[in-house]
Amino acid sequence: MNKKKQVRRIFDSISYRYDFLNHLLSGGVDFYWRKKALKLSKINKDSILLDIACGTGDFAIAARRMGVTKIIGADLSFNMLKLFNQKSDWSKGNLVETVAEEISFKDNSFTNITVAFGVRNFYNLLEGFKSFHRILKTGGKATILEFRLPSNSFIKWIYLFYFKNILPFIGNIISKDKEAYTYLPESVDEFDAKVDLKKYLLEAGFSNVTIQQATFGIVQIAIAEK
Ligand SMILES: C[S@@+](CC[C@H](N)C(=O)[O-])C[C@H]1O[C@@H](n2cnc3c(N)ncnc32)[C@H](O)[C@@H]1O
Repeated sequence: MNKKKQVRRIFDSISYRYDFLNHLLSGGVDFYWRKKALKLSKINKDSILLDIACGTGDFAIAARRMGVTKIIGADLSFNMLKLFNQKSDWSKGNLVETVAEEISFKDNSFTNITVAFGVRNFYNLLEGFKSFHRILKTGGKATILEFRLPSNSFIKWIYLFYFKNILPFIGNIISKDKEAYTYLPESVDEFDAKVDLKKYLLEAGFSNVTIQQATFGIVQIAIAEK
């Protein structure tokens, strides 16, 4: 199965358990990470935001709470988008089922693009970043929140033990989708080993790329400017 089909199948399948598992398995710290990323991006009430790989909408909902009113969400999983619609009364008509790599918005449409825990799943990261660059206005920002492997070997050991043993075990029981919660640690491992976010962002045409780490280096927040 190709990556696009595999990722769609997984998120369509676990969608109804996604929020519950996400907050349980992260201990709720995922809310803090999203908020921190939005603050670092200086999102404000004048922002025109596209939240890509929006899933059930937590990043977009956090942006809305920070005063942003022009928000569009995009995701390849219909079931995740359906749940986003059920969680908010403002998202109807503002959600698009699409892959990041083939977004059809006009050039220079948005001041901000956000992606939380999504780019790791893209089937073609460079194409995704190129489309971000095309549809952002000049001076606009792309903000990417993503997992990474911590550099401290002790923390990395604890993290990998949790990610490879506890997380798939609980995820499998609750979501009843074994592939989904073995895919998660594997995708973080693979992404971390192969992908230099900064290099891809620069190659896609972005400048002023900064990367910050949070929570013992298990997540990274990349911000890039057009
Ligand atoms: C781990 S979830 C993150 C959802 C949400 N951003 C959050 O913070 O909870 C990853 C999402 O990325 C979406 N996704 C994966 N690959 C994608 C792609 N190539 N284009 C658009 N969405 C994609 C999945 O359908 C899924 O909803």
